[in-house]
Amino acid sequence: MTRRKLVAGNWKMNGSHAALSELDAIAEAAAAHTSIDVAVAVPATLIAPAATRVPALSIGAEDVHAADHGAHTGCVSAAMVKEAGARFSIVGHSERRADQGERDADVKAKAEALHRHGLNAIVCVGETLDEREAGRAEAVVTAQIAGSLPDGAAAEWCAIAYEPVWAIGTGRTPTAADVAAMQGAIRAKLRAMIGEEADRLRILYGGSVTPDNARELLHVADVDGALVGGASLTAAKFVPIIAAAN
Ligand code: G3P
Repeated sequence: MTRRKLVAGNWKMNGSHAALSELDAIAEAAAAHTSIDVAVAVPATLIAPAATRVPALSIGAEDVHAADHGAHTGCVSAAMVKEAGARFSIVGHSERRADQGERDADVKAKAEALHRHGLNAIVCVGETLDEREAGRAEAVVTAQIAGSLPDGAAAEWCAIAYEPVWAIGTGRTPTAADVAAMQGAIRAKLRAMIGEEADRLRILYGGSVTPDNARELLHVADVDGALVGGASLTAAKFVPIIAAAN
């Protein structure tokens, strides 16, 4: 089964109006690489200006609340980010699971909220270093898939990002064999849950992807793209990663 690769950036709590100029060259690269999907998730404050500046590029949010509206001070809903110009959101990033105590059920509900509003979801999973060293990485990640996968998950609107927590922002990456093993375990779990649709869903890899390692990581079996943090902040680093997906 051939799946189009998706290279997505995650700016996290970085960026400013001045930084939006980086999106110009990223949008150009996205337009030039017609066989690759490119997307950038930005802080909520930058969604509208980013979507206005580069209308052809898929701009997304980094999180949404599961509810459509209500007494949730400081949060934004799927409908709100959509109105601002987002086409998708990341949900369940390990930084939110750790910092905000998000559980699998929360992540699932957020992904379902996105779908209700016609937005795409990138659902993140990944084990900690302790879990990997204890030999529990696959068990942890497949349990996260079981709990976080939205009902009715379909390739048109849902992708998975496998991000080992210990590889995020550390410069450390798993071996190609370890990545392949985990992507395969995730695919097998998805097959058990949603049958043939599992073969259409994209499974991205995330964690210290750089222009130097992107070609290798993006061509590991079952890797359908990358979720890129630090290296997505500048076109100088992100554009070569987009090119490496070809
Ligand atoms: O969501 C992307 C991410 O957590 C990876 O971050 O900086 O290691 O590429 P980074």
